[in-house]
Amino acid sequence: SMSLLREQRERLREEVVAGRRQAVDRQHTLGKRTARERIDLLLDEGSFTEIDMYRRHQAHGLRIEEQRPHTDGVVTGSGTIHGRRVFVYAQDFTLFGGSLGEAHASKIHKVMDLAISTGSPFIGLNDSGGARIQEGVMSLNGYGGIFQRNVQASGVIPQISVVLGPCAGGAAYSTALADFTFMVRDTAQMYLTGPDVVEAVSGQRVTHAELGGAEVHGGRSGVATFVHDDEESCLEDVRYLVSMLPSNNLDLPPSAPSCDAATDVRPRLAEIVPVEPNKPYDMRQVVAELVDDGDFLELHENWAPNVICVLARIDGDVVGVVGNQPMVLAGVLDVAASQKAARFVRFCDAFSIPLVTLVDVPGFLPGTDQEYAGIIRHGAKLLYAYCEATVPRIQVILRKAYGGAYIVMDSRSIGTDLSLAWPTNEIAVMGAEGAVNVIFRRELAAAADPAELRSELVAEYSEQLVHPHYAAERGLVDDVIDPVQTRSAVARGLAMLRDKRKQPPQRKHGNVPL
Ligand code: COA
Repeated sequence: SMSLLREQRERLREEVVAGRRQAVDRQHTLGKRTARERIDLLLDEGSFTEIDMYRRHQAHGLRIEEQRPHTDGVVTGSGTIHGRRVFVYAQDFTLFGGSLGEAHASKIHKVMDLAISTGSPFIGLNDSGGARIQEGVMSLNGYGGIFQRNVQASGVIPQISVVLGPCAGGAAYSTALADFTFMVRDTAQMYLTGPDVVEAVSGQRVTHAELGGAEVHGGRSGVATFVHDDEESCLEDVRYLVSMLPSNNLDLPPSAPSCDAATDVRPRLAEIVPVEPNKPYDMRQVVAELVDDGDFLELHENWAPNVICVLARIDGDVVGVVGNQPMVLAGVLDVAASQKAARFVRFCDAFSIPLVTLVDVPGFLPGTDQEYAGIIRHGAKLLYAYCEATVPRIQVILRKAYGGAYIVMDSRSIGTDLSLAWPTNEIAVMGAEGAVNVIFRRELAAAADPAELRSELVAEYSEQLVHPHYAAERGLVDDVIDPVQTRSAVARGLAMLRDKRKQPPQRKHGNVPL
């Protein structure tokens, strides 16, 4: 009877795949893999255990009862990534276009519940025509059940959404509720309403890619955290990401062996950052010097590139690094940068990942565009996220930190645990020129030689206020360090703070500005 069962299962597998040979070929022609091929790429070899392979829909009407394929268009189950347990679903576009009906949804609910109850990361591979039209409101009900679980799981287990084909309508919300969203160029599309509806409503003609391709969501909208050229590199990076995340909020991220970072001297650091306060450089080069093996995973590479957010390891332990990027818009904070960094800080805080903040910031971006878009509200998100974070926090001020942006970038006043500054530093309310123009306006207007007076006053202001010792003497900076010692100083700081425990206040939840 065992061999009978095996035979039955084999027949079932063949039926599920071979029954739709044309659809499988079409999938391959489009540069897409099948659901099972994707699961094989994602998980450790041979680790996948399928659940609910026999499941089929019980729906009637519009001739759907004539077609009742096993799996109902989604493969679900569990396996391991680098030996650690995860739960997955992979939608199968070759059956009903991967569309989501009642049975399909309830299979996803089942693996989400298992992921939550076992404290394991949850990964969804999306490739679907959306709500299964023939099943009406039961399909919509199925989506609601996914969203409800996404929210219950938020901050408890890492949730990763991978978009490998269409992901239309309500389906798109599951990706927005997840912690990370991956998209593949050319084949992935996400939108709430498709091109046909857009045209019918507004007369605007737009292609699928223009409306919701990977370029759009990786750049303009910020919906996609990562964009890849093909499914192989995409799923490989999902594995890399998972290798740096804890399985749940009660676990710590997996560490690698220590690599003597606490004594590591990095001469390149002094060369990368120019002394002149306004000269651009690439903050990612600084990150590469600070982290183990120069290896890091950057989130939202093409959205709000004036701030960078990366996951990496320092002395074997996972850290989240937030840094101003002087190479783009001089590293100012704006609406998008605030949103990007705020969400990252909150993710790291929820999952016990220490924060290292690299500060080199001239301020917030001025102008009506930003004010009308609500920079006050959005900047407040980043402020709120830092104020609330209870993980170990280290601030490194590289070159300059002005005004409100100084406060927001994890200053002492909002709870950083350790603040380190390079000696070439400018920390102040504003730059010397601007400051002198404000406080000595009358004197300058009355002066016989305003240019000379101005340069005298600028020198005086700079000498008195604009150096890290002003902040260090007052305890706002804990140490002024040689740039080449930054990696070792941060590694020592992380070791010092490893056992930090801090309870957030008891309340239902705060009211984060949205
Ligand atoms: N419900 C039921 N079946 C669906 C479906 C849905 N939402 N979306 C796709 N399918 C079926 C198609 O009928 C087709 O079935 P067939 O192979 O038996 O002919 C199969 O899935 C493949 O779809 P097809 O349209 O041929 O693929 P495509 O690559 O040309 O287009 C989409 C993909 C997603 C753009 C297109 O299918 C579409 O617009 N679907 C509807 C999207 C939608 O409005 N969903 C509801 C809102 S949530």
